[in-house]
Amino acid sequence: MLDYFCGSGTTAVECKLLNRNFIGIDINEKAIELAKENLNFEYLFGGDVDLRVGDARNLSFLEDSSVDLICSHPPYSNIINYTFDNEHDLSHLDTENFLNEIKKVADESYRVLKDEKFCAILIGDMRKNKLVVPLGFWTIDKYLQAGFKIKEIIIKRQHNCKTTGFWYNNSIKYNFLLLAHEYLVVFQKTDRSDSFDEEKNIADLSYSVIDDIYFESTSVWISNSSNYLDNAISNLVKRYSKNFCIYNINNDITANLVVYLLDNKFEEFINDIQKANNNRIVAILCNDNRLDNGLVRSESIFVEQKLRNNEYLKIKEIIILALNTINETNITENLNINHKYLLIYQKVK
Ligand SMILES: C[S@@+](CC[C@H](N)C(=O)[O-])C[C@H]1O[C@@H](n2cnc3c(N)ncnc32)[C@H](O)[C@@H]1O
Repeated sequence: MLDYFCGSGTTAVECKLLNRNFIGIDINEKAIELAKENLNFEYLFGGDVDLRVGDARNLSFLEDSSVDLICSHPPYSNIINYTFDNEHDLSHLDTENFLNEIKKVADESYRVLKDEKFCAILIGDMRKNKLVVPLGFWTIDKYLQAGFKIKEIIIKRQHNCKTTGFWYNNSIKYNFLLLAHEYLVVFQKTDRSDSFDEEKNIADLSYSVIDDIYFESTSVWISNSSNYLDNAISNLVKRYSKNFCIYNINNDITANLVVYLLDNKFEEFINDIQKANNNRIVAILCNDNRLDNGLVRSESIFVEQKLRNNEYLKIKEIIILALNTINETNITENLNINHKYLLIYQKVK
């Protein structure tokens, strides 16, 4: 097992407890010392541990197709600096340079991993000038470009996010959501295809707007699977505008808030919405779809890729709709997908 952003060794400790061979590297010598200290506990362990100072972009000490599992938590671009002046520390880079360098890490990951094995990466988004910076999706893209396919997207919720007081009030006053989730993405090195061409029509769309709904202040909105659409639309209306329409019903784009449930008419929708007036809020509901071959095809990543360089639409929020579903007792090879996404864009031209 490999963690190339090993830090203080959380993965290393779990490997010891699970009797797995572990290779951990980090650019920071002090982190490696700390990881060694953290591993210094009594436990009947029969595996090998290799901890070393190194750069995740260069894994030349590892042979091709030699690793069974990668599990790592990258240093987010520019959020927390892990070292003071180490020029190889990726946390010193701005977003664009960070993504260029993370692509090198993704390429090395693909090279050293055995065929059909998994690489799990924990990554989140950032906020700049009240707009979300979708660093998570952009990092996922780099791993996809390296050749990986998506096996799972697990939403990690931040439970310590305060939703009252100062932040609650500011989230309303300045109209932004507190980031309360990260993505734990499990990639697979496989030749199986992740293409998806299922016909998707939104039939019998029904919803009702609830006036006295709980006002959400974070990026994760929790509902029952039976009423998530009512709750989501009611919250969008409460936050953005009472003057709203659902594009799927009559292709209307004239309201202040346009809600679109992603279907086969995405290209038409984009053409239409470019004609809408400025400052419209556009909310696109997307799913992660499980393919028959077990891989995941994420509509939200597809939509964000398509709109990334769109001069009319700027991404404002990535909202996770977390659905309470009945707990499945039987453990299957695939996780039960119990989230959807609302991608919020603002029309800027
Ligand atoms: C989010 S932390 C990892 C936390 C870790 N899971 C733990 O248990 O402490 C990211 C780590 O990446 C390291 N890092 C930054 N740039 C690196 C690079 N080019 N190669 C390897 N490690 C790097 C930082 O020193 C930091 O320890």
